[in-house]
Amino acid sequence: MPTLFRLTAPEPHTDVGDALRSFVFAANLLSQDLTGDPALSTTAEAVAQTLRGSSETATTIYLLSEAETQTQDLLDPPGFALGFVQISEPLRADADTLDFQIILNAELQPLPDEEPDEEVQSIMLELFDAAASHAKRSGRSVLHTWLAREDEHKTMAWLSRTLHAKGFQAKLQETHGWIEVSAVPQPLPLDSGLRAEFIQDFQFPEHLIPGVASILSIADTDVPHGGLSTQPGPWDDTRIATIGQELRDRGNQSLGVVLLQGNEVIGYSEVVRYCTGDLSIAWQGITVLQEHARGQGLGMAIKQLLFEALRQHMPEVRRVCSEIAVDNSRMLAINERLGFRAHTTWTALEGQVL
Ligand SMILES: CC(C)(COP(=O)(O)OP(=O)(O)OC[C@H]1O[C@@H](n2cnc3c(N)ncnc32)[C@H](O)[C@@H]1OP(=O)(O)O)[C@@H](O)C(=O)NCCC(=O)NCCS
Repeated sequence: MPTLFRLTAPEPHTDVGDALRSFVFAANLLSQDLTGDPALSTTAEAVAQTLRGSSETATTIYLLSEAETQTQDLLDPPGFALGFVQISEPLRADADTLDFQIILNAELQPLPDEEPDEEVQSIMLELFDAAASHAKRSGRSVLHTWLAREDEHKTMAWLSRTLHAKGFQAKLQETHGWIEVSAVPQPLPLDSGLRAEFIQDFQFPEHLIPGVASILSIADTDVPHGGLSTQPGPWDDTRIATIGQELRDRGNQSLGVVLLQGNEVIGYSEVVRYCTGDLSIAWQGITVLQEHARGQGLGMAIKQLLFEALRQHMPEVRRVCSEIAVDNSRMLAINERLGFRAHTTWTALEGQVL
């Protein structure tokens, strides 16, 4: 009988261990098969950081080992790692929800056009059971997972069928892709009455904080979630300050644009860059406008301002990765005009544990 181990987080500046290295290798192989883009690879240090946790998310990785022994929490469990399940639990919102991602050891991952054999299927089922048991223990009843290329990747197709048979349903589709920073046109001057403030590393001046907290709450409800269950959490100065502190403590960077009409915050858009990844890549965070400011071209204006600021403040960044719900016609139209090139469509499945 294989044994399930929970990986402990490596201490900063210590060796991450073979188990985590093998997880990263497996995750990158799967990502390469699904997206075809090596730039989306993760690193051992990035995973170690997520395992250490943040005020927003708790991350757990279980490793299923061939070793027949007692289960324990370990940095480097014994035996051959058959596969992993990575679990993320939001802490400030979505208190009922848990995200899981099943990843087979790189040596066991079938080629995209190969059917998963019985051994692979039983490993994946055990890893799913580990996620479901974790959810029950932590009092979370809603499970989410993301799949891609189910039409061509036979293991993804098998997982999709298996989860559907367990009652999971597709609830949201997102297109992921890139915008080349240099291709984004210069921003036009803003109409009179409007102005922009640029924010580095989530350090908002005090006068902006109530307006920013309010617009982040609007984003939580208005960014399309398809049919996924969500329970937004409140935004306040403490939450904003904590996120900023954690971002800076980890050595990551962010750049945001706050759009103001008079003293009212009417829009916000941001990108984040992780020091543990490829420094020529940044990740688009939210873009949101107050409802009364929509439909006037300001979504385009705020993105152009953000990309211009990126060229000035993070000149090494060449591409920005964006993730957009396939039915978000406005955001897709804006991104297409900025040169967005899609690489993968992901589907979120949702199921329940009772
Ligand atoms: C997404 C958002 C920032 C867009 O900003 P906006 O200024 O309202 O966008 P616009 O109304 O200027 O529309 C943008 C483009 O979409 C087009 N568009 C508008 N409605 C459309 C529709 N139903 N179908 C197709 N295109 C549409 C517009 O014509 C415009 O294209 P154009 O500039 O070539 O004419 C804003 O609507 C918003 O805050 N939405 C809620 C949060 C959100 O979804 N954020 C994005 C998460 S990834």
